[in-house]
Amino acid sequence: MMEARTSFRQSKIFAVAGGKGGVGKSVLAASMGMGLAMLHKQVTLIDADFGGANLHRILGMENIRRSNVQFLRRKVHCLEELAISHPRFNHLKLIRGMNGYLGAANLPYSQKLKMIRHIFRLPADYVILDLGGGTNYHVLDFFCAADAGIVVVTPDPLSILEAYHFIKQAFFRKLTQTFKNQDKVSEIIQHYAHEESHNRHANVNNMMTEIRLTNAALADKIQDFQKRFRPKLLVNHLRKPGEENECMAVMEAAKELLLIDVEYWGAVHDDSTVYDSVKASQPFISYNSKSRASRDLATIIITKMLKKTHLPHHEPKDITKHSNAKQEKICSVHCLYWETCEFKRGGYPCDLLHL
Ligand SMILES: Nc1ncnc2c1ncn2[C@@H]1O[C@H](COP(=O)(O)OP(=O)(O)OP(=O)(O)O)[C@@H](O)[C@H]1O
Ligand SMILES: [Mg+2]
Repeated sequence: MMEARTSFRQSKIFAVAGGKGGVGKSVLAASMGMGLAMLHKQVTLIDADFGGANLHRILGMENIRRSNVQFLRRKVHCLEELAISHPRFNHLKLIRGMNGYLGAANLPYSQKLKMIRHIFRLPADYVILDLGGGTNYHVLDFFCAADAGIVVVTPDPLSILEAYHFIKQAFFRKLTQTFKNQDKVSEIIQHYAHEESHNRHANVNNMMTEIRLTNAALADKIQDFQKRFRPKLLVNHLRKPGEENECMAVMEAAKELLLIDVEYWGAVHDDSTVYDSVKASQPFISYNSKSRASRDLATIIITKMLKKTHLPHHEPKDITKHSNAKQEKICSVHCLYWETCEFKRGGYPCDLLHL
């Protein structure tokens, strides 16, 4: 998968996954894309759920006829041609998916690599992939190719278990591909990859001890790989305070059994506005930007996706002197992100838009 990165590379790729179906991957991916587009970032959303594509519905873009199937069937040679602008927010584009196309479910490996190469070349600031549920190889490969793989989990114990299982599968998929053709070491990795998650004696600690005895130099490289593999955990459907702590069991298990750090990205509350927004065919963040779920996600977009934790000080601009004064983005209580923005500058040009 690593060879997919090319010098054309200009965008940052996020992949939204989660072991269990229905945890909110698609509604979150749609609102992440819309939220970034509202901050004037160029965003392309890709529906990579080959079994249950529905991003076009969530975005109110059912009328688009072209889908990624045309790329997969080689009817269109460039993925970018299939990116269609949102009717109201033209910073946001969608490459829709198509249901009922069996060919995509059996996508040949070479086609998948080609699609990943084209995703890396898309002319956007951010590309967001909405992946299907489960742990099939398509889901894992797109997840592993992204710059940031986001695992959505809910406080439901089954979802917590599935999220850990998903991270384990993704870890071993990427590990296997990164260290293939290494004879004995590849065999050891395969052995541990197929062990049941609940077998505590089959943890990565033991695997590393075996590998180190076989090839110490390769063991060092695998340790570096482990440090770089950092999935993000996003809790959805939070109902009671403290429930997010239960979800953090995923992080503890990943640390103890896989020796990897899972980065906690935050939590989005269970909020009936999300359901209403789906009925209205709009991402919840633009449907009602002041709702609880929207404010939660706005914090995640600003602090995690845009990584705005510290901004340099700069002087307010005197906008009255500029002829294009009306186009200046002024920090305002009407801003989508006002409630959660740590950088509000009341009446001054917006730091987030102007940096
Ligand atoms: N924070 C939330 N509050 C309330 N309802 C939510 C929230 N997040 C998601 N939902 C509801 O859950 C439903 C399923 O969400 P979504 O389709 O995004 O799940 P998914 O993980 O993409 O499912 P699939 O695996 O089938 O693709 C949505 O229709 C939405 O109404
Ligand atoms: Mg979905």
